[in-house]
Amino acid sequence: MRPARSTDRPGLSMFDNILTDDYTPPKTCTVERVTAVKHWTDTLFSFRITRPAAFRFRAGEFVMIGLMIDGKPLYRAYSIASPAWDEELEFFSIKVPDGPLTSVLQKIQPGDAVLMKKKPTGTLVNDALLPGKRVYMFSTGTGIAPFASLIRDPDTYEKFDQVILTHTCREVAELKYGEDLVNETINDPLIGEFAKDKLVHYTSVTREDFPRTGRITDLIESGKLFTDLGVPPLDPAVDRGMICGSMDMIKDTKELLEKAGLTEGANNKPAEFVVERAFVG
Ligand code: A2P
Repeated sequence: MRPARSTDRPGLSMFDNILTDDYTPPKTCTVERVTAVKHWTDTLFSFRITRPAAFRFRAGEFVMIGLMIDGKPLYRAYSIASPAWDEELEFFSIKVPDGPLTSVLQKIQPGDAVLMKKKPTGTLVNDALLPGKRVYMFSTGTGIAPFASLIRDPDTYEKFDQVILTHTCREVAELKYGEDLVNETINDPLIGEFAKDKLVHYTSVTREDFPRTGRITDLIESGKLFTDLGVPPLDPAVDRGMICGSMDMIKDTKELLEKAGLTEGANNKPAEFVVERAFVG
């Protein structure tokens, strides 16, 4: 038994458990290595891990990521933020101070190991939406993660003429991940060709001064969202929605879409909108 990494980081000794030469992950899992970690704010970080050759997913899906905690694997669902064509996998996470997983996960560094379940899943996928003219991707906080994958998926641009990514956060600094993502997407040699004419990034902040303030639900209800974008109000004939944020945000946004006549779709029954909650813990 060789602990492959001794660490002076408190709370991280559990990494040794899965890095011993004789560690065999459960059949449903693979052991992956962290390749990069970026801390965006005191509460947000993103990380990248190796991707097994056999791992396939649809943009917008999530997968279970885990660590050995007190000798037992502890998992939580993470939306995959990287596009399907990326060689690695990226995730965007909140740091919950007492969260059983994220309080430890936020300390990972390149070279560390994480467990990943082999089977991704989810409803926030293009397949669950009927074709339309315009797709709204409504996100708050880390709820932007699945859209980071979807706005880099060529299928999204094949299916829709306009892709409107809304991102609302409490504070200005929390928008940075999305801002960098959209800039990189538009300037990407491959996907940029699709994105530059179709992708619109619409940001707002709720607890600090910013050129645009207010919850996305209020911006929909007041009609300001549509005036700002220069588009007509929501119309089930042409508009599609995807929602990812907290439980409350999802519930309230969903109600507004339903009020506008859109109905919820699923993988086996595509319709006008889909939801996925941003997982925390
Ligand atoms: P607010 O600052 O007014 O609570 P959180 O971190 O709590 O998930 O919040 C992320 C963003 O989502 C914040 O800007 C927050 O606004 C907003 N938000 C929280 N609850 C809702 C909701 N029910 N509907 C719409 N936006 C919400």
